[in-house]
Amino acid sequence: MSLEAIKFDRSNKKNVSVRVLDQLLLPYTTKYLSVYTIDDGYAVIKSMQVRGAPAIAIVGALSVLLETQLMLNDHFVKNQYFYDTSNWSNFQTRFLERLDFLLSSRPTAVNLSNSLKIINMLVKKSTNIDELNDKIYQYTCQLIDDDLNNNIKMSDNGAKFLLDSLAKEGFEGEFAVLTICNTGSLATSGYGTALGVIRSLWKDSVSKSERKVKKAKTETVEPKARMTHVYPLETRPYNQGSRLTAYELTQENIPGTLITDSSIAYRIKTCPIPIKAAFVGADRIVRNGDTANKIGTFQLAIICKQFGIKFFVVAPKSTIDNITENGDGIIVEERKANEFKLVTGTLVDPNTEKPMLSEKNEPISAKVGITPPEIDVWNPAFDITTHDLIEAIITEEGVFTKDVNGEFNLESLF
Ligand code: MRU
Repeated sequence: MSLEAIKFDRSNKKNVSVRVLDQLLLPYTTKYLSVYTIDDGYAVIKSMQVRGAPAIAIVGALSVLLETQLMLNDHFVKNQYFYDTSNWSNFQTRFLERLDFLLSSRPTAVNLSNSLKIINMLVKKSTNIDELNDKIYQYTCQLIDDDLNNNIKMSDNGAKFLLDSLAKEGFEGEFAVLTICNTGSLATSGYGTALGVIRSLWKDSVSKSERKVKKAKTETVEPKARMTHVYPLETRPYNQGSRLTAYELTQENIPGTLITDSSIAYRIKTCPIPIKAAFVGADRIVRNGDTANKIGTFQLAIICKQFGIKFFVVAPKSTIDNITENGDGIIVEERKANEFKLVTGTLVDPNTEKPMLSEKNEPISAKVGITPPEIDVWNPAFDITTHDLIEAIITEEGVFTKDVNGEFNLESLF
């Protein structure tokens, strides 16, 4: 059973329920939080209890659906939210303001913005709350189902593309890959994007080694490229790599070794098996292919170029911003100083590494200061990798490489 960032019970379209895994408590504590309103959606997204561009868009859309449902079931205190469904045009204006508020939760990942644009149209086209609830329900279910199906498609596309290019190069044998942040089940509706490709490569590797055992008894086995190891980066300061990706890898027994962000170059240089690729996700890919992703991605791409390692961006069409021309136009979110100056974790016994438990028998989560409190810090959540450093952009619709002029032609995705 793969990890679920979002639990969505859709069996009754007028009474859905949504629970979000509190990713701030992982890997030691698994706790789901209920979401009922746009305010709740905003809060879990802003605090990064749910994170990852596709998961943010899904929780955002679900929180809008939940808010229409509350109005439908007349649970809303009218004055608290200034909704008055008896005057539809006033209601529409107010509801669109609420969508703008939700959008302000995290500005860089474009998936939320793309999905709220569609919801905005649905609000404008609807003539009553029943109709609006119905339309947003259909849209949200589709968003979630498409995300999962597209992840599997892009992951298989990416795995095949790498294995074919290694075969063309004549590379045979075991290899390793790098990844940053968390782009797996926890960041999506399931399977993942960049981590999805790694999952697909691992499946391929397992099936090749099973075939090898069978064949070895009767005939000589031809050596083939197999991914046998993953190096996830810790991904300071929020540690999505060490807390989340490492967790997903251990849950699925995919062999991996966690490395600090500062050891990439040395790991590549000294790795016992060749590192052949880096797979990263994206928060926003603009028209020329420049890509916003987790802080540290740009330096990873530069190091990969230095060592001749292929650097791939893996993302769904919903991560494309077809308006912004290049990376200079992307707004990069800056997070609070405390997310850098304090490390959040679970208290553990240093000898056993087992969590210390509270009186309620729950792991104790704590914040630990690691800087002088008065120091100023700069804490951007993302950086922009320029398209010249990217080998290919892998999507559910295929793998996009650059033309002879070094340009990506992404028009078919717009
Ligand atoms: O700040 P986060 O954790 O939301 O950042 C997440 C990333 O940068 C991911 O790489 C990106 O959203 C793609 S997730 C499939």
